[in-house]
Amino acid sequence: MVKSMKADLHADLVVVANRLPVDRVTNPDGSQGWRTSPGGLVTAIEPVLNDNDGVWIGWPGGTDEAMEPFTDNGLHLVPLSMSEQEIEEHYEGFSNATLWPLYHDLAARPEFHREWWDTYQRVNRRFAEKAAEVAAEGGTVWVHDYQLQLVPAMLRELRPDLTIGFYLHIPFPPGELFQQLPWRRQILEGLLGADLVGFQLAGAAQNFIRLVRQRVGHKTHRDLVYLPDGRTVRATAFPISIDARGLDELSRTESVVKRSEEIREALGNPRKVFLGVDRLDYTKGIYARLRAFAEVIADGHFDVDDAVFVQVAVPSREQVETYKVLRDEIERLVGRINGDHGKLGQPAIHYLHSSYPREEMAALYRTADVMVVTPYRDGMNLVAKEYVACRANDDGALVLSEFAGAADELRQAWLVNPYDLNGMKQALLDAYRAEDRELGRRMRAMRKTIRQHDVAAWADSFMSSLAEVRGAHRKTLQPARKS
Ligand code: G6P
Repeated sequence: MVKSMKADLHADLVVVANRLPVDRVTNPDGSQGWRTSPGGLVTAIEPVLNDNDGVWIGWPGGTDEAMEPFTDNGLHLVPLSMSEQEIEEHYEGFSNATLWPLYHDLAARPEFHREWWDTYQRVNRRFAEKAAEVAAEGGTVWVHDYQLQLVPAMLRELRPDLTIGFYLHIPFPPGELFQQLPWRRQILEGLLGADLVGFQLAGAAQNFIRLVRQRVGHKTHRDLVYLPDGRTVRATAFPISIDARGLDELSRTESVVKRSEEIREALGNPRKVFLGVDRLDYTKGIYARLRAFAEVIADGHFDVDDAVFVQVAVPSREQVETYKVLRDEIERLVGRINGDHGKLGQPAIHYLHSSYPREEMAALYRTADVMVVTPYRDGMNLVAKEYVACRANDDGALVLSEFAGAADELRQAWLVNPYDLNGMKQALLDAYRAEDRELGRRMRAMRKTIRQHDVAAWADSFMSSLAEVRGAHRKTLQPARKS
């Protein structure tokens, strides 16, 4: 249900992210409405927001005129609109054609344009001003991700009374790469406006601390940065997770079990189903993984009666050139593989360029005997964790890139180097041939890990560290309700 919200709100907790946690939908009667996005972040933050009567500031997508704040499903949302030029230069440009490839090991060549940087600063300032406007005296603001790295310092200047946390969902690169950025110092200083800067992995936090020491010249010790004004900033790892219990329950429901059987049937009842699920992004290693699968067929280890590959490619950032090129390359490859190895009515690769609701994803994960997650670089990769959560029978194999953050925790996966095609072929084959006992041993261990570190634990630990860092004189936030 959508309700408009009082305009003079002052919230104790404000979440600031590039996107709002809702997607626009057209209702059956033609009217416009909102649906909560299926992402993990909303699941994680919703209980904390509700307990603190908090608000979420974000871009609603598109170029709409200024929209009023509204409440949807108990979430107080403050939309911040972007002009066409801001979408081009802040979102598609600086965020996704400069920072995204730079932070992902140069998986594509980052473009550096001064106009993009100007717009990035302008949009970050608008987010900071909006947060300053809605946050209550002494409140807490939690800023998310690479699109908004300047917000912490801009906000601190406007509202020194606030406690500010920042969390980076993607990798933070080593100095050798980060230093290419003409505005490297400004980004570091932007982040240092926060009291706590959270990363997925300890290595990323160390990269940041080292860069702050070298490039900004502040004193550091372990995970602390000492600023000349006496403030300290903590930079540390909080590996993000998923709603493990919720997904586990969903995967056991009658409708999901039935849908999973239908999917297997529709695929022609092969002995094994391989699955890839990714945003259609060049960091995900989709091309190499499909090639590896095709070569295993070409080498004669199995054919399409034995195994098929389902690749879900979720449309993403479609106006950005590198994403357009990638889509063409992958679709050409899928056509070639199916032409070479498919039979009538039996393609080797079932390629789906679409996004699906949670239930359908759970049914796909339940169907997949081998889940293949092979990014060249990934902050965490929640798909790997979602797959594990949906394997209620303790079976199924996970083939996982060493370069996904998730590999730090999911040690019992078949770990691969996505640049090593022969190594990937071998891992696909090993996973295909693995015996039930081996699968069970590995899956049980991984399921234990994700049950212990779920998304509620992630949000709790970030929020309590944030409260600690700024000390007892801050308003104490209610801890998140355990879901
Ligand atoms: C990654 C980023 C998020 C981003 C998401 C979807 O997970 O860390 O910040 O929202 O991709 O990308 P999009 O460009 O559609 O927001």
